[in-house]
Amino acid sequence: MAAGVTAATRPAATHAHGTHAVAGEAPAASVAADSILVRACRRQAVPHTPVWLMRQAGRYMPEYRAIRARQTMLEAIGDPATAAEITLQPVSALGVDAAIIFSDILPPLVGMGLELDFVAGTGPHIANPVRASRDVDMLGTPPAEQTMRGTLSAIRLVRDALPVSTALIGFAGAPFTLACYAIEGGSSQRYEIAKSFMYAEPAAWGRLMRRLVTVLADYLIAQARAGADVLQVFDSWAGALGPHDYARYVQPYNVALYRAVKAAGVPVINFSTGTGAYIDDVAACGGDVIGIDWRTPLDDVRARLGDKKAIMGNLDPIALLAPWRELKAQIDDVLARAGSTPGHIFNLGHGILPSTPVDSVRRLVDYVHQVTAADSHA
Ligand code: CP3
Repeated sequence: MAAGVTAATRPAATHAHGTHAVAGEAPAASVAADSILVRACRRQAVPHTPVWLMRQAGRYMPEYRAIRARQTMLEAIGDPATAAEITLQPVSALGVDAAIIFSDILPPLVGMGLELDFVAGTGPHIANPVRASRDVDMLGTPPAEQTMRGTLSAIRLVRDALPVSTALIGFAGAPFTLACYAIEGGSSQRYEIAKSFMYAEPAAWGRLMRRLVTVLADYLIAQARAGADVLQVFDSWAGALGPHDYARYVQPYNVALYRAVKAAGVPVINFSTGTGAYIDDVAACGGDVIGIDWRTPLDDVRARLGDKKAIMGNLDPIALLAPWRELKAQIDDVLARAGSTPGHIFNLGHGILPSTPVDSVRRLVDYVHQVTAADSHA
């Protein structure tokens, strides 16, 4: 079922808007190819378990809040110097093994023709959401080199500033999660509008998903060419679907995306939440690393996926609000369930919360480094 998507996608969209130059060129040579994060992605031996945290640059950090007091979210993302500075903040404050470029999953929708804003207190808002089949046909697929220049420049700045032992992660939203935002016009509890559209307009849904695959594959490859050593795809809302809908409405497009992004030549992390019941189907879409939320124990995941994929996760972000004895017990549990098979990246099961104490985060990073370094010499 997936086979039709790849072939149909790129040429159709490319004709409409000119050639996507980046996609056809040779893969980038990652300067951090021997970093601990990249080695773990490739399931190679590491001196300690690498750790980074989703949303590690964010409102829980005073340095971040100071910058955001002066610039809006979209200004900060669009200004390479600011985005680079925010990206580097948690690397120096926490000693994590990777930086993730400061941006968001939603800005690529702006290049497609959607009017995005981040509204303080309520989150993202799209003024002209996709609500009808014809709205899909209005969406463009221009190349990332035109529409995401600020982020690509920020990646170059950050890569130049980082030591080769620290990996830089580029990212994009997955087609389903971005389709949800494009249709709902913002965050949602149940995705009623998006799922109703998907059921009522399956042909338009397919066109929307194919356009997203084109834009996202191109954007991810462009990030690797700009210097990202690892790429992550966030399918944060995939768990809104049951297994049959996932297989029918999402999987073929994800397969096409991961297949196209192989051209980047860097490891890819496939992250989703709420998908534990059908994580095998999620993993079958592609990616070198499968990111797991905190609802699914990592030993279960290992048993189901075998050792052909690295895994990432999966501390409950709210454990960071607990006293150290509880936080430590939960970290120990994650590490024990991940086991000693190569290919574990320590992370949260979803993004860090603004109310998180910075000291707990620092303690977590140090502790994971210490205990796993001791293990690897045992
Ligand atoms: O991980 C990182 O540090 C990299 C930067 C990053 C951000 N958002 C910064 C951000 C990444 C990778 C994202 C991904 C993202 N954005 C997702 C997927 C991951 C997830 O958490 O599920 C989603 C669904 C979004 C959409 C989004 N962006 C929402 C719903 C919101 C508002 C809610 C909130 O947390 O404020 C954002 C805003 C956002 N993106 C902030 C940050 C640091 C907060 C903005 C602020 O400073 O006010």
